[in-house]
Amino acid sequence: MKQIRYAALISLPVLLGVTWAVQAQDFSDGPSVQSLESRLDDDGVSFNAQVEQRPDDDLLEIGRLVAMGGAENGGSGMACITCHGTDGHGDGSGAFPRLDGQPGWYLYKQLVDYASGARPNQVMSAIADRLTEHEMEAVSAYYGAMPTGTIPKHGDVAGTQLQWGGQLAAVGSAEKGIPACVNCHGANGTGLAPSVPYLAGQYASYMELQLQLWKEGVRDNDAMNVMSSIANKMDESDMHAVAEYYARVTSEEAQVEDEQYVSPSAME
Ligand code: HEC
Ligand code: HEC
Repeated sequence: MKQIRYAALISLPVLLGVTWAVQAQDFSDGPSVQSLESRLDDDGVSFNAQVEQRPDDDLLEIGRLVAMGGAENGGSGMACITCHGTDGHGDGSGAFPRLDGQPGWYLYKQLVDYASGARPNQVMSAIADRLTEHEMEAVSAYYGAMPTGTIPKHGDVAGTQLQWGGQLAAVGSAEKGIPACVNCHGANGTGLAPSVPYLAGQYASYMELQLQLWKEGVRDNDAMNVMSSIANKMDESDMHAVAEYYARVTSEEAQVEDEQYVSPSAME
């Protein structure tokens, strides 16, 4: 009975996705655990917010396996690398968020939230549902340990809108009651481990969508409704502006690589 109900819930796109992802699986790809070690040692990247520990090699190796589509319990049915890439950069389209170097704990929480339905998504909820807690932890540690790169992928936006986006990020809007994003997401949008994700260099279309989902009450997984109350005060054009702005901020240099950019400090 449970299986029948479950099958009925899986829609056609998901089924198509499964077939496609299974075909694309490649278990030999993806950074080796050894190649991630120097970053872990250098940056003191810690996975688990509760115990503040560096993920050990065994955990990372399980994470690598899950990312490639394998796992103890037969896997999620879809290799994460199919959509999120072997380097965690997504496929460039902006449909799939970057996972590389995102705090491991944040990624883990998202998987738990997809599975519980607090963050419902046709594709990701079905995947997360099939992962064990340990596999979620492992794959989050693996992607979280990856070095972040720069992805200059963003859409068209007017210079004045970009300027407004930068202003929302840096100081917010007193008039609209929107707090500055930098208060929580860090001075340059590089996030704050363990629970606040980076926005710098994330795909604009993805970030814009998340703000809309919060406003619509679909994504309902933020502690104390922090993000939903912020999104509620934003209109479509605010969301577009701030998302396009952050997509242009590179997480590495924490600078913007676009002439249209006006530095937040220059606007005050
Ligand atoms: C068929 C494509 C696809 C596959 C395969 C896939 N994902 Fe995703 N993933 C998505 C999409 C689309 C989203 C954005 C969904 C949304 O709007 O919430 C996403 C979002 C996420 C997020 C949230 C990121 C954030 O910044 O909040 C995490 C974490 C994640 N995926 C992990 C994984 C892991 C781990 C696997 C493999 C076990 C995986 N995904 C496999 C498509 C995919
Ligand atoms: C009071 C703290 C706080 C402020 C201020 C804040 N955020 Fe957030 N934001 C968070 C937290 C915490 C999360 C993670 C929520 C979760 O667990 O899913 C988040 C998540 C997000 C995400 C989802 C990222 C992803 O990978 O899915 C976006 C987009 C975002 N914030 C945009 C913004 C923007 C734009 C602003 C400024 C207008 C802003 N935030 C201000 C705390 C904050």
